[in-house]
Amino acid sequence: MVGGGQLARMTHEAGIPLGIRFKLLSDTPQDSAAQVVSDVVIGDYRDLETLRAFAQGCDVVTFDHEHVPAEHLRALEADGVVIRPGIEALLHAQDKGVMRERLYEAGVPCPRHRIVADPEDVARFAEEGDGFPVVLKTVRGGYDGKGVWVVRSVEDAADPFRAGVPVLAEELVDFARELAANVVRSPHGQAVAYPVVESIQVNGVCDTVIAPAPGLSEALSAQAQELALKIAAELGVVGHLAVELFETKDGRILVNELAMRPHNSGHWTQDGAVTSQFANHVRAVLDLPLGAPNTRAKWTVMTNVLGGDYPDMYAAYLHCMARDPGLKIHMYGKGVKPGRKVGHVNTYGDDLADVRERGRHAADYLRGTITE
Ligand SMILES: Nc1ncnc2c1ncn2[C@@H]1O[C@H](COP(=O)(O)OP(=O)(O)OP(=O)(O)O)[C@@H](O)[C@H]1O
Ligand SMILES: [Mg+2]
Repeated sequence: MVGGGQLARMTHEAGIPLGIRFKLLSDTPQDSAAQVVSDVVIGDYRDLETLRAFAQGCDVVTFDHEHVPAEHLRALEADGVVIRPGIEALLHAQDKGVMRERLYEAGVPCPRHRIVADPEDVARFAEEGDGFPVVLKTVRGGYDGKGVWVVRSVEDAADPFRAGVPVLAEELVDFARELAANVVRSPHGQAVAYPVVESIQVNGVCDTVIAPAPGLSEALSAQAQELALKIAAELGVVGHLAVELFETKDGRILVNELAMRPHNSGHWTQDGAVTSQFANHVRAVLDLPLGAPNTRAKWTVMTNVLGGDYPDMYAAYLHCMARDPGLKIHMYGKGVKPGRKVGHVNTYGDDLADVRERGRHAADYLRGTITE
């Protein structure tokens, strides 16, 4: 796996019981996955020769992020390296402009959008619709809301253009809530769909995921799953595909974006599904039969732990574990920076309000924002 973040750490973990030999390319030995994987190469994924040397002896190469330059992926494919998902699919997760264009062609419902050239062009885009505010996104390199702006005037619209990356404008969707449809597809064309989840973002960062999405009609749920399966098949995705969705107030779904790797909206599956997204990603990229995506509890809630100032990690553990023996803690071993994702907790049970409260309490306590 290329990329040493928490997704690689948890993918490695899922491969252990299957006896999979897992090799990692990581920027530094301190990265989340590099701390726990024994076969680590430290190097820069932006360097083709580093990638080539890393890929030697791998049956298959997969990714924990979408930032490996496309030309390097093409070069590796030309060398005969098996990359899953392949470059033709991955392009759509790497570039939001390419993704929008392709989904539009496939008839997938998306927010109104187009590539904009400069702030004046943003003003024209606004006039073509309902005016400001509009959403601007750099087509590449964004994560956790970085690379996304809500702009209210032409004067506001200068920042996104400074990075020198093409900028995509979108209507600001007045959504009722955000959903995610997670599916996994194998090279054989087998696919599984997890229950559709609700995902709640705070300041552009995923905060809570509820599985399944409360009150979602069976019709809309089936529509979202079918949409995700269709996108996976049309784009030839191999591995885990997360389709981030907006549920509009009039009961429609629009696609926000795609991720072709395990995703934050699927972390609940570690404790709430028969087969986790990480285990199924491993199975898919190795072309093994996929595992059941069914839930193991009525409700599972994933609550992210963001960096705060832990006064004392183990004191926090004592409290959290004693208070809630059913709590599932997943920490990433990452340095604490304010707002950075450093872990998550999963809770599950029959009473949604209770399951949510337990997750919220543990995440806040681990972060250090509450002390009792
Ligand atoms: N067109 C839109 N209308 C309304 N809200 C939007 C729109 N696009 C994005 N958002 C909000 O901003 C959040 C982040 O946007 P997006 O998912 O495109 O960025 P990202 O930084 O790539 O995300 P991620 O955290 O998934 O890596 C969304 O989850 C949503 O809350
Ligand atoms: Mg997103």
